[in-house]
Amino acid sequence: MTDLKHVFITGGSSGIGLALGRVLAGRGYAVTLSARRAVVVAEHAAAIASGGGRAFGVACDVTDLASVHAAVRAAESALGPISIAVANAGVGLPSHAAKFVIADAELMVRTNILGMMYLLDATVPQMVERRSGQFVGVASLAGLRGLPATSVYSATKAAMQAFLEASRIDLAPYGIAVTTINPGFIATPMTARNEFKMPFLLRADQAAVIMADGIERRARVVEFPRPMAFITRLARHLPNAVYDRVMRPYAGRVKGEK
Ligand SMILES: NC(=O)c1ccc[n+]([C@@H]2O[C@H](COP(=O)([O-])OP(=O)(O)OC[C@H]3O[C@@H](n4cnc5c(N)ncnc54)[C@H](OP(=O)(O)O)[C@@H]3O)[C@@H](O)[C@H]2O)c1
Repeated sequence: MTDLKHVFITGGSSGIGLALGRVLAGRGYAVTLSARRAVVVAEHAAAIASGGGRAFGVACDVTDLASVHAAVRAAESALGPISIAVANAGVGLPSHAAKFVIADAELMVRTNILGMMYLLDATVPQMVERRSGQFVGVASLAGLRGLPATSVYSATKAAMQAFLEASRIDLAPYGIAVTTINPGFIATPMTARNEFKMPFLLRADQAAVIMADGIERRARVVEFPRPMAFITRLARHLPNAVYDRVMRPYAGRVKGEK
């Protein structure tokens, strides 16, 4: 058992999840980093521990319910009850309705949407029993409107936002906070293959500080960077005809088709 707050993060082997784990460990949290690459999370956890933090690395495939439950049980044995669960693992592949690859779509739906629900299934019942805790979902500004050439990713993030919003209201009477995090462009392995210039790009360590601050104040929604969040929120209010005209040039961008 530990008196430290224990944060369980999916997708902790790289990018945003790893950066968030490092920041929270630096703020005194016990951190479990989970991902499919067990050796990688174990190494990162060992590095955090050698710097004086408390960390545990565990294998977890969020598309497999049994794997998520097993990882959560192992983490609870290692570091105590989970006070904050962060559904961060995600896949972002291009998708175009005229050149649809159903296998890519299934992977994104399984990882981004079901993966989040599996984590909730494995962690929230214990929080309900204790009448305390926090569930965090890393969605995206890409979920606020349908993005051309990114239709499936955009749809999975919109689904996450709706699920997290509803869960926030469901869980409030049990003392459990739900936080939706909507980042803009962050430099990680996921975005490294983007060939276009990403506006207002942040480093993962910068994103992690903003996320950790939002988690600590149990914010309902955390959106950043601010200029990107403002533009995206504005785009939500554009009439459909105007939105279509503005976005049409981006529809062929990913696969280079006119
Ligand atoms: N980068 C951005 O600009 C940006 C913007 C908005 C939102 N986001 C969201 O932020 C989250 C993290 O993305 P990132 O940019 O940090 O990308 P990343 O560096 O590619 O990290 C993705 C993480 O997800 C894990 N993962 C993938 N499939 C998994 C599975 N089936 N089971 C368990 N873990 C799995 C990967 O670990 P393994 O391969 O080891 O399993 C990795 O740790 C994602 O949900 C993404 O949609 C990113």
